[in-house]
Amino acid sequence: MTTAAADSSRPIVEQFDAVELIRTKRDGGTFTDAEVDWIIDAYTHGIIAEEQMAAMNMAIFFNGLQPGELLRWTNAMIASGERLDFSALSRPTVDKHSTGGVGDKITLPLAPLVAACGVAVPQLSGRGLGHTGGTLDKLEAIPGWRASLSNDEMLRQLEEVGAVISAAGSGLAPADRKLYALRDVTATVESIPLIASSIMSKKIAEGVGALVLDVKVGSGAFMKTRGDATRLAHTMVELGTGAGVPTVALLTDMSTPLGRTVGNALEVGESVEVLAGGGPADVVELTVALARVMLTAAGRDDQDPADILASGKAMDVWRDMIRAQGGDPDAALPTAKETQVVRAERDGVVTGLDAMAVGVAAWRLGAGRARKEDHVQAAAGVVIHAKRGGRVRAGEPLLTLHTDTPDRFPRAVSALQDAYTVADAEASAPVPLIIERID
Ligand code: URA
Repeated sequence: MTTAAADSSRPIVEQFDAVELIRTKRDGGTFTDAEVDWIIDAYTHGIIAEEQMAAMNMAIFFNGLQPGELLRWTNAMIASGERLDFSALSRPTVDKHSTGGVGDKITLPLAPLVAACGVAVPQLSGRGLGHTGGTLDKLEAIPGWRASLSNDEMLRQLEEVGAVISAAGSGLAPADRKLYALRDVTATVESIPLIASSIMSKKIAEGVGALVLDVKVGSGAFMKTRGDATRLAHTMVELGTGAGVPTVALLTDMSTPLGRTVGNALEVGESVEVLAGGGPADVVELTVALARVMLTAAGRDDQDPADILASGKAMDVWRDMIRAQGGDPDAALPTAKETQVVRAERDGVVTGLDAMAVGVAAWRLGAGRARKEDHVQAAAGVVIHAKRGGRVRAGEPLLTLHTDTPDRFPRAVSALQDAYTVADAEASAPVPLIIERID
């Protein structure tokens, strides 16, 4: 076990005992404020060992945190690092956070769109892990683009361009950085209090004026049922509002992938299509809907984002934003060395295309990582030819798989075995993309 010997500011004898606290939560008990503060601080400083925190996370996974414990837990995570301050900017700020999905490239057109409407968007984003993609991995497909900015660079870009998408600095909620990496490898991600505290600690520490949450529900999301997604949304909205950050959540469908592309460069290409006034209807619908909610939350609903998108102003901000971070918005995006087509086995109407299956296939093709230190292939992924509601004939292409390493095709194809359901006729009413708003 790690010891505190190196840290002279710590007491000789620790205030609490990790094993006793794990037992408390394992048996359904409730922590005091002092115990919560100690757990987060001691874990951040290596006093609580990784295996002990893994057990603690599993105890929380099964027994939860009471509302008071969760608030304290989140505040302790915020206090583990620095807080940013955007109050010197000449315009209001608003951020959007998605709980993660398949083909979810919305941040890419959304940040420049909202900036083009007069509100600054400091979008601190993450990388993909597992079957869900990460915004930074997508943007790194653009030649020259860099994810890491200093706080001063970020502020300057927000003032001059209006939007920045960058990696969160290592000083922001360091407790979450450690905790999230541990949860990812110990099957403890899908816990409402742990997800809520992870997301909200970063967002509150980021210091934005308002926050809009896109809480995904369905096979490709962490929350598989509407009940769980609703509980997560309410929990996060309460944490945000309680911390003085006006917070609104939209519950949105993630039973099927968003748009027609899954994979880093492929999704950048599709986002640019949206900014150019085209792109898939579902991506445009969600981008505009989230922009409306963000503008209202920031107190600037005098512009219609649909008009701004059509005017090309959001594209201008996109180009400035990419250039400001060293990228070339005119450079060709990488393309995969190999492709393979998956074809329909029968005639009919597509009644389902499973988000999780497509996400896992893209991941296996090289678009995502199995371990934190893995490299992603910029060009790997899946292009979707037949979406839910579409009519197909036997032998027609359903999907095109892209990768630089063709020995990945068999495992990707096996992930897609039951991805499509094709019926003689449309069996049920289409699932709405935007399910519910939670304030
Ligand atoms: N995104 C986060 O930042 N944290 C989680 O726990 C889940 C999704």
